[in-house]
Amino acid sequence: DMGGHDTYMHKEISEQADAVDRVLRGRIDEKFSTVHLGGLNLDAREARGIRRVKILGCGTSYHAGMIGASLIEGLARIPADSEPASEFRYRNPVVDPDTLYIAVSQSGETYDVLAAVQELKRKGARVLGVVNVVGSAIAREADGGVYVHAGPEVCVVSTKCFTNTVVAFALLALHLGRIRDLSVADGKRIIEGLRKLPGQIQEILEGEEDIKKLAAEYADAKSMMFIGRVRGYPVALEASLKLKEISYIHAEAYPASELKHGPLALIEPAMPTVAIVPNDSLLEKNRAAMEEIKARSGKILAVAHQVQEKADHTIIVPKNEDELDPILMGIPLQLLAYHTALALGRDIDKPRNLAKSVTVE
Ligand code: M6R
Repeated sequence: DMGGHDTYMHKEISEQADAVDRVLRGRIDEKFSTVHLGGLNLDAREARGIRRVKILGCGTSYHAGMIGASLIEGLARIPADSEPASEFRYRNPVVDPDTLYIAVSQSGETYDVLAAVQELKRKGARVLGVVNVVGSAIAREADGGVYVHAGPEVCVVSTKCFTNTVVAFALLALHLGRIRDLSVADGKRIIEGLRKLPGQIQEILEGEEDIKKLAAEYADAKSMMFIGRVRGYPVALEASLKLKEISYIHAEAYPASELKHGPLALIEPAMPTVAIVPNDSLLEKNRAAMEEIKARSGKILAVAHQVQEKADHTIIVPKNEDELDPILMGIPLQLLAYHTALALGRDIDKPRNLAKSVTVE
């Protein structure tokens, strides 16, 4: 049932304020400025012993894991990174008893992720799941985890589950941080930021008409560049994947800092750039990157907290805490991909060559 929407993708994008509300519900502990995660199966002593976090997923879940890694590293000060599960399992990785492994999956059935979990468990590692589908294979195989509570996601491309997965990682990062050395004040600051998310998501969704007009401006591009720095880079990667999957427009995502090391050669009027430009300590660096693109007559659409003079267009998103900004910046770009694909007459819920879950190798 599409509930009055023309596609499942549109329905799922529109449900995100409620979905985020659901992943937060019953988990926040105001008294101790932390969160409770019932299924984690990891006590405080074990949490203090973790030396590294390795996150494994595919596609959108891999991108959500990248933001998850930066949340864990930032809030809990544990070195963390995200890797495609498929790559991980074929490179005979060192499996380390002091590393916490986290498998990320919407479906909980992706073969490469499940196989990585099984290999890790065989070698005695502790594996948590950040999974949407309750009781799925990966959820059952993991030692514990955090359910994402996005609700059923039908469209082949993931939207609301991406957002909720990142919020689930913020909860996990806050939990680990408050056991290690995140202060009460910082815990409170993140909790307040989390509580603001549903309202801010709704505000972004109300700007859909403007994003639709922008999509019409950019829909004739043969190719698009997406750039961001540090927290903005996974947002760029995910937005570029979304555009490719449903519009079939070729897209590249790069850290803005890498532009001058090669991809700048691609910039010309026919290759527009989407720039992720949060108001954080990297704002000036991002402005400099936009200037380099302008100097090559590249067209720029910025996603930012204030109008960007260097850009041809700016989509303004509400500001949250720096750590949580990537969650909000991804949402208008889901709508941009959606309206671009719609303008091009694509079959949005069933893009060519793709399946909802990849349960084979
Ligand atoms: O169910 P999973 O999260 O494990 O799926 C992983 C990928 O196959 C999935 O995210 C894929 O990239 C989607 N088509 C993204 O929109």
